[in-house]
Amino acid sequence: MIDTLYKTVMPDAVKKWELAGLVTDFPEDGGECFRFGELQIAVFNFTSRGEWYACQNVCPHKLQAALSRGMIGSAGEEPKVACPFHKKTFSLKTGQNLNGDEKPIAVYPVKVEEGKVYVGLPS
Ligand code: FES
Repeated sequence: MIDTLYKTVMPDAVKKWELAGLVTDFPEDGGECFRFGELQIAVFNFTSRGEWYACQNVCPHKLQAALSRGMIGSAGEEPKVACPFHKKTFSLKTGQNLNGDEKPIAVYPVKVEEGKVYVGLPS
């Protein structure tokens, strides 16, 4: 179920940009969770890198909907999020599990225009 619901969207595969909120709605170096239909997507304002990322909110380890509350940081050049439950860590660029062999998470493009934050979805 989770595998069919959440699939990484490459920038050139975006069919619609969904409004997640205003830039000012997001904590610095933190995330918020949004629902788009059935999807729960974590959107991160990675202030210290000047970047934005989005991924599925559900952690593949024990299916906790918690990644938006995870700590974000960098592993070398790689932006990452650590699930608050058991600290499984995932790349916010590729979705790969960086400290184990969990399934990758789906990641989504984010764009910011005129103070608004949008997530790119496939339909
Ligand atoms: S539920 Fe996320 S690390 Fe266990």
